[in-house]
Amino acid sequence: METQPIIVAASVLASDFTDIRGEVRRAEAAGADWFHLDIMDGHFVDNISFGPAMVSAVRKCTALPIDVHLMIEHPEHYLERFKGVANNITIHVEAAEDTAKTLRDIREAGQTAGLALSPDTPFEKAAPFLGGIDLLLVMTVRPGFGGQKFIPETLEKVGAAAEWKRRESARFRIEVDGGINAETAVLAARRGACVMVAGTYVFGARDIGEAIRSLRGPG
Ligand code: DX5
Ligand code: ZN
Repeated sequence: METQPIIVAASVLASDFTDIRGEVRRAEAAGADWFHLDIMDGHFVDNISFGPAMVSAVRKCTALPIDVHLMIEHPEHYLERFKGVANNITIHVEAAEDTAKTLRDIREAGQTAGLALSPDTPFEKAAPFLGGIDLLLVMTVRPGFGGQKFIPETLEKVGAAAEWKRRESARFRIEVDGGINAETAVLAARRGACVMVAGTYVFGARDIGEAIRSLRGPG
C-alpha cells in the first residue's frame, strides 16, 4: 500500500458555537489541515446543524481549506450558496437527483467535488461517478450526529474504494467521517483512507495538538 500524507479535517460540529473564531484558531494553531462543516436539513438526516452563514463565518476566521459535507435533500439547489466560500463540496449519492451533473456543477464553480456514501450504501452505488470526483467520503457512522461509535464494517468499503483507485490509477482521496480517533484512524489509513474527519476527538480533547498529531498515525 502506498503511503499517503494524512489530512486532518476538524469537524466544526463538535466545536463550541459560542466562540467560533476562537475554536477555528485553536484547531488551526494545533495543526488541523482542513475544516469540515456538516450541513444538515432535518430531512436527509434527523438533525439540523447550520447553513451557509456558518460556512462564511468560518471562512472569515481561516485561510485553510473548507470541506463542506451536504447532508441535505436537493443539494443541487444549494450549491450556489457555497460558491467562493467552500473549497470542497461533498454530496451524498443517496440525495442528489442527478449525481453526475451536480458533481460537474461543483467543479465548474471552482470547487473540488466529493461524493459521500452512508454506511448502508454499497460501494457499487458510487462506481459510475468515480471518474468525476476529487474525494470519496465513506461515512463510518450513520450521518446526522457527532459523537457516535465507529462502525468497523465500513472499513470494507474503504478497502474496495482503494482497490478501485489502484486498478484505475484514479486520484481521488478517500475520506472517513464519524467516530474517528487515534485507533480508528490507523485502521482506516491501513485500508487506504487519507482524510480523517474528526469532531469530538479533536474539539473535546484535553490536548488538541496531541489529538491531531495522533490522527496522523504512529511514527
Ligand atoms: C456526522 C458528521 C460528522 C461528525 C463527526 O453526521 O458527518 O462530520 O461531525 O463527528 P465525530 O468525529 O464526533 O464522530
Ligand atoms: Zn461530516
